Order: sequence, then structure tokens, then C-alpha cells
Amino acid sequence: MSRIRGRLALVTGASAGIGRACALRLAEDGADLVLWARREDRLGELADDIRARSNVEVSVAAVDVRDRAAVFAEAERSIAAGRVPDMLINNAGLGAGLAPVHEGSLDDWDRMIDTNVKGLLFVTRAILPAMVERGSGHVVNIGSIAGEQVYPSGNVYCASKFAVRAITEGTSIDLLGTPIRVSAVNPGLAETEFSLVRFEGDTERADRVYEGLEPLTAGDVAEAVSFVVNAPPHVNVSALQLLATDQRSVHHIHRED
Ligand SMILES: NC(=O)c1ccc[n+]([C@@H]2O[C@H](COP(=O)([O-])OP(=O)(O)OC[C@H]3O[C@@H](n4cnc5c(N)ncnc54)[C@H](OP(=O)(O)O)[C@@H]3O)[C@@H](O)[C@H]2O)c1
Repeated sequence: MSRIRGRLALVTGASAGIGRACALRLAEDGADLVLWARREDRLGELADDIRARSNVEVSVAAVDVRDRAAVFAEAERSIAAGRVPDMLINNAGLGAGLAPVHEGSLDDWDRMIDTNVKGLLFVTRAILPAMVERGSGHVVNIGSIAGEQVYPSGNVYCASKFAVRAITEGTSIDLLGTPIRVSAVNPGLAETEFSLVRFEGDTERADRVYEGLEPLTAGDVAEAVSFVVNAPPHVNVSALQLLATDQRSVHHIHRED
């Protein structure tokens, strides 16, 4: 049974990986969708695909979550049209580079902090007041096991995900006394375009991340998001950590030779 049939979900970073899988999964649950990412062509193809499979409404917008003005303009457009999301899936994010702090790229640090931390905050700040005013809503932040443990050369990416954890917990506490729920879904290694983006298109290096193990799929994470948003209204899944069976922590990964 789906509790989100006919409800509206805004998914950021829906053009690939976990966000795309969430869009497909929530559509299967009968939710209408607003999909944001920078690559609008990909969003358009995904929307066509979803419309062909399910009887849900899908709209897309090219939004860079780092662009504060664009985020607020698009959110206001949607809210003014009476489309206040019932679920906000804050998923847009990336790792950029993997280097010790003393060799790190300042541009990579900017991209990660601007997207993973400030972007998530902008979207939340743009959408949440309308949820509070209406008296219902659910914010799901895609964090990471990297928001709980630090791995070598993960420094700034991990810091950005530690920040997501603090923002998730802070938002949840701030909304105590309202019916609005706030959840974190924290995956470990999931095979998406994440490593390809992190290593700037170096497919060999990206493939090595998942070598010898069976990682999570984007669909596995989307399944967890579906579970979280389908919980009964009096239940708030505050944090759900999801790891591949071959991974027990950021430091404990089993690989077959
Ligand atoms: N894969 C993993 O192992 C893993 C593990 C734990 C957590 N996560 C988290 O899961 C989330 C999704 O990552 P993924 O693994 O699905 O990676 P992915 O396949 O690279 O997808 C990332 C998505 O984020 C979007 N995005 C990136 N920068 C953006 C921006 N400035 N504005 C709007 N959208 C932006 C991308 O779309 P455009 O490029 O079209 O904008 C894309 O749709 C991230 O927050 C990541 O930190 C991933």
C-alpha cells in the first residue's frame, strides 16, 4: 500500500544516479514529481519515460542548486501555482577529487561545499516555509556514511556530509511540535555516476572504487527513500544507514581478488 499516491515530491539531482532512481521509485508509488538538475535534456527524457510507465504528473526544471536566485525563483513559481511539495528529497550532491588536505583543490572544495551544504540549505529554505504554513511535509536529506566516519583524503567531502547530518538533525529539532518530518538516508558505496564525477570522467579510476565487491545500486537507495516517505504520519525515520553487505564501515570493505 502506498501512502504517497497523489502527493507531490520534489527531487533535486534527478538527472542521474540516486535522484533518478528516486523519481522512478516514487512514481511507482503514485507520487507526482517535480524534478530538478542542471542537465535538462536528461530530465526531459526521464519525465517522458515516467509518463509512459505511470499515470503521474511530472514537471522538470533546470536548476543549479548553488544558484540561490534560481532556487528561490523556481520554488516560488511552483508554490505560487499551488504546487507545494509534500516531500522534498534533497539529493543533489557530489564528491570532487580525492586528495589530502595539503594538496586539495580549492575549486573542488568550493564545488562540494556550495552544492552539498549551501545548495541543500537554499532548497530547504525556499520550500520549507510553505510546508510549515500548510502544516504538512517531509524533508529527506541524502547524507552518507561519510557524514558519520572520515576516510583518507575524504576530508572536505566528509565535512560536507557531516554538515548535512547536522542540518538534518537541526531542522528536525526546529520542527518539533509541527507534523513535518525530517529524515536522513545515509548510503555507503553505491554505483552511480558519483565516482565518474569525482574523478572527472576517469572511468578506470571510477571502476576501481567498486572492484571486487557488490555495491548498492541507486535503486536500493531509492527503495529506502520510498520506505521512509511511506511510513505512517506518526512515524519519523530520523536516520537510515544503508550499506552493501560487502561494506561494514568506510574502512571495512570486502573485495574478492
Ligand atoms: N554514490 C554513492 O556511493 C553515494 C554514497 C552516499 C551518498 N551519496 C550521495 O547521493 C547523492 C546523489 O549522488 P549519486 O551517487 O546519485 O551521484 P550522481 O550519479 O553523480 O548524481 C548526482 C546528481 O546530482 C546532480 N547535481 C550535482 N550538482 C548539482 C547542482 N549544482 N545543482 C543541481 N543538481 C546537481 C546531478 O545532476 P546534474 O549534473 O544534471 O546537475 C545528478 O543528477 C549525493 O548527495 C551524494 O553525495 C552517494
